[in-house]
Amino acid sequence: MKTIQIDLHRTNYRYQVKIGNRILSEVLTELLFNYTEKRIFVITNSTLHALYPEFSKTVIPKDIQAECLILPDGEQHKNLETVTQIIDFLVEKKANRQSIVIAFGGGVVGDISGFAASAFMRGISYVQIPTTLLSQVDSGIGGKTGINHKAGKNLIGAFKQPYQTIIDVSFLKTLPEREFIAGYAELIKHGIIRDPYLFQLLNQKNLQELKADEDLLIDSIFRSCEVKARVVEEDEMEASQRAILNFGHTFGHFLETYTNYQQLLHGEAVIIGMDFASWWSLQQGFLDKADFEIIHYHLCSLGISKTIPEVTKETFIRIVEYDKKFSREGIRFVGLTGIGQARIFDGVTADSLWDNLLTYIQSDALLKID
Ligand SMILES: NC(=O)c1ccc[n+]([C@@H]2O[C@H](COP(=O)([O-])OP(=O)(O)OC[C@H]3O[C@@H](n4cnc5c(N)ncnc54)[C@H](O)[C@@H]3O)[C@@H](O)[C@H]2O)c1
Repeated sequence: MKTIQIDLHRTNYRYQVKIGNRILSEVLTELLFNYTEKRIFVITNSTLHALYPEFSKTVIPKDIQAECLILPDGEQHKNLETVTQIIDFLVEKKANRQSIVIAFGGGVVGDISGFAASAFMRGISYVQIPTTLLSQVDSGIGGKTGINHKAGKNLIGAFKQPYQTIIDVSFLKTLPEREFIAGYAELIKHGIIRDPYLFQLLNQKNLQELKADEDLLIDSIFRSCEVKARVVEEDEMEASQRAILNFGHTFGHFLETYTNYQQLLHGEAVIIGMDFASWWSLQQGFLDKADFEIIHYHLCSLGISKTIPEVTKETFIRIVEYDKKFSREGIRFVGLTGIGQARIFDGVTADSLWDNLLTYIQSDALLKID
């Protein structure tokens, strides 16, 4: 089992991320050993419940009673009504300020449960048990919690760090292939922005080899979480450096919004977004051609390519400028100066990104426009 320690200086708070295969029962037993409340509040969804019906019986220590709330599956339920449902459940079951919420599921369950835990009685502890690759390397650590509003994704939220995060790779066995690739986007992103060794490690293997090699999977998730943990320690509230985690997200969010969240999973959009951001970095003269090609061919090997209907300059600019990463000074765009070296460029204009988009779609790009 591997452990990452996250130290947050702002609040003088620290917690651990445990990573391994089939570790959940052992880690939970240790975690709850001195827990006098003897009742935990498990939040999961219908898919996880169907796949792991014995979850509470098999991994939760015998002396602990698990109260379980099963949410409907899907991003469309990441909203205030579901938060109310969780709060009602906690009230009905007489949870108190010492109670612990266990979020068992992907990023959606983790984000909603974390947010509900941050609000209930002004904040109670929650443990993340992320079950998708995306949530294991990304949303399960770092303390961003939240829900969607009809005006935008993740518009309502709070910073609330978990009590502990337990990453058990055995859950990935049931994850659909498409979800695995979407999570892989964030895994490889951490290599591209900060850890050239991680990138190299993954670049030597294909996805099937990665899935089949438990040690490699644990090692790469560990390294990926290390990158995120160190960035979060440096800048918990995303005042500056944490923005490098948005590599690939400006263009990725544009694609998700433009296609109405109907065609691409978030990670798939990020794969194309990283390809575009690498192209942009090459065009600006920050990234050399050899490094661009290594990244580009790796991203191509993931099998995500997309054709979208023709987009006008006005629509592109409107969507990009509505993004959270846009301010009066322009876009805070994350580019590359090498593999493992991301840099934040402030004041990039939507106009200049549009010019790059025109050259990008004429190149050997992952995105085509009809
Ligand atoms: N808080 C953060 O820092 C942060 C970072 C990135 C993304 N997010 C959020 O995370 C969400 C996306 O997370 P996600 O990609 O995990 O999506 P998700 O939670 O919707 O999970 C994807 C699908 O996989 C299913 N699933 C989960 N675990 C499974 C397993 N082990 N086996 C089989 N199926 C399983 C889920 O039920 C769902 O149908 C978005 O809402 C996004 O905004 C948050």
